[in-house]
Amino acid sequence: MLRIPQGSIILAPMVELTHRALREFIEAHWPGADFYWTEMASTKSFLAHAPFESFYLDTLPHPQKTIIQWYSTNMPDMIEAVTQHYETSVANGQVCAGYDINFACSAPHIERSGGGITWMKKPEAAITMLRELRSALPDIQLTAKLRLGYEEDFENLVDFCIALAEAGLDAIILHPRFKHEKFKLRNHWDILHTITAAIKIPIIGNGDITSFEKAHLAFSTYKLHSIMIGREAVRRPWIFYLIKNKSTNSNFSMDIELETAALTYISYVQKFLPAAFHLSRIKRFFFYFCDNLKFGHHLRYAIQNAQSIESIQEHIKSYFCEVPEERIKYEK
Ligand SMILES: Cc1cc2nc3c(=O)[nH]c(=O)nc-3n(C[C@H](O)[C@H](O)[C@H](O)COP(=O)(O)O)c2cc1C
Repeated sequence: MLRIPQGSIILAPMVELTHRALREFIEAHWPGADFYWTEMASTKSFLAHAPFESFYLDTLPHPQKTIIQWYSTNMPDMIEAVTQHYETSVANGQVCAGYDINFACSAPHIERSGGGITWMKKPEAAITMLRELRSALPDIQLTAKLRLGYEEDFENLVDFCIALAEAGLDAIILHPRFKHEKFKLRNHWDILHTITAAIKIPIIGNGDITSFEKAHLAFSTYKLHSIMIGREAVRRPWIFYLIKNKSTNSNFSMDIELETAALTYISYVQKFLPAAFHLSRIKRFFFYFCDNLKFGHHLRYAIQNAQSIESIQEHIKSYFCEVPEERIKYEK
């Protein structure tokens, strides 16, 4: 059952970035995201009760708006982990908005392990896995996130999407890049548009949506059911708020105090994540956030080399002492 209404704007799954601290930060300061994807959770780690699993699977502050993404190298683990998780969350009264299967990740270690995009090399196994998962969990929203695959084979891609729909998926999230394209090359939105027309379940489009104008284009020109935003939501966590407000008020303006935003984000990481995660998650965030700053490369470099949170806070304060008044204004 699809719980995502048409026109939704969604936070994409991103390792070490889309955790509870980021969701709390967005919700408290610039609410506007309709749904949140967690970073991918490993079925193997979940089944082994690995440390920190409760943080990867934390769906607060709004479980009903949060979808857990799973990554697995094999079908038995996937079925076992997802059903176990579902049963526990029903018992705890904290059922999330749905489960998503990662068929998209092309990071070398994930590919080597046989997870992520490698499922697109074995479509029959992927389809069987989803059919089994659907029969084990008839009531929950089930989606899968895909890239375009390994090579241009449009017919096979459409057939794969149709078969996934028939296996019981409620929607497909498409990041329209081929495996080898990483993030740099052209995003094939034209292909995405054609797939939307060919299959019966909704397509949620993802990739390079960085402004109100691009979000608008995704809905108006490409007729997408919903859109998903990744890196821009880390660079500018107010992007959902901005898009939502601009779509109802063309005169909408806002003013972002970058120093306050930067320091506040750190306090959310400290409050909501385990100490072992603090430094890595803060560094990962500022890798993108520093793009907002005129001399962001200096601050980014200093933060990436910092050994403590206190020194990161000091680098941020001294940056804004040297470049006071740096802020972002969105005007009519
Ligand atoms: C640091 C990082 C981590 C990511 N982790 C995941 C992940 O766990 N699962 C997934 O399906 N995609 C992952 N992605 C891909 C994003 O979800 C998204 O598809 C991609 O960034 C393109 O969208 P964007 O242009 O809006 O960033 C990751 C991307 C980045 C940059």
